[in-house]
Amino acid sequence: MGEAGVTEEFFARRAAARARLDEIDPHKTPGGVAADPQRKDWFEAVYRLAEGDAAGVPWAHLAPHPLLADWLATRRLDGLRALDIGCGLGDNAEALAAAGARVTAFDLVEEAVAWARRRFPQSAVDYRAADLFAAPEVWRSGFDLVHECYTLQALPDTLLDAAAQALAGLVAPGGTLLVIARARDEGQEVGGPPWPLPPSRMEALAVGGLRCETLEDIPATNAMVRHWRAAFRRDG
Ligand SMILES: C[S@@+](CC[C@H](N)C(=O)[O-])C[C@H]1O[C@@H](n2cnc3c(N)ncnc32)[C@H](O)[C@@H]1O
Repeated sequence: MGEAGVTEEFFARRAAARARLDEIDPHKTPGGVAADPQRKDWFEAVYRLAEGDAAGVPWAHLAPHPLLADWLATRRLDGLRALDIGCGLGDNAEALAAAGARVTAFDLVEEAVAWARRRFPQSAVDYRAADLFAAPEVWRSGFDLVHECYTLQALPDTLLDAAAQALAGLVAPGGTLLVIARARDEGQEVGGPPWPLPPSRMEALAVGGLRCETLEDIPATNAMVRHWRAAFRRDG
């Protein structure tokens, strides 16, 4: 199916797809967590069941995240090595490339990677299938900018310490980890997934030689719920 752009009708179909996908989400299904603790089968199912219609992918906006676009608006990344985590349909990776970075982007799901390649056939982005928890050894300390948007909040809390270590291990000396996620207060109950992150989870990303440089608490607007945008730096 071609891309007609994001309309109200697109969002309505996307919401309907989300409701159907919630019904098979292991973390919303009794007994499902043990069967699929990392939600891998579910992520695979999302892209498979979408059958090429982006409205079937609950996080598809067909545009870079506005907080990434805003961050890039005042920067050039010429020649920097950038890595986009859990790249989905590729819009954030393409924005990083448009800012001048040499971008690698990966997703757990082969179909997501294939779909991103189909959407951007002329792209300079190197799209790969890979698992954050078993990333290729050659990526270790290999990126000046590691960008993560919405993958952490899609993972159960039990995986977040390992995810933080995995992210830190990808940042080169002198490099930056940029994280965009939905936010919640400490101790605030949420029905996930996704699970908006509390402050302690953002602070806990400062591991493996990373220190928090900025932690922006971005209040909700009519267009967007409350978010974090945080930058962590590894001293060079
Ligand atoms: C909520 S989506 C966000 C996609 C994209 N970053 C965005 O902002 O639109 C999370 C993505 O992470 C991928 N993912 C989940 N677990 C992963 C893992 N262990 N390694 C790599 N990607 C993963 C999923 O397949 C999915 O595409």
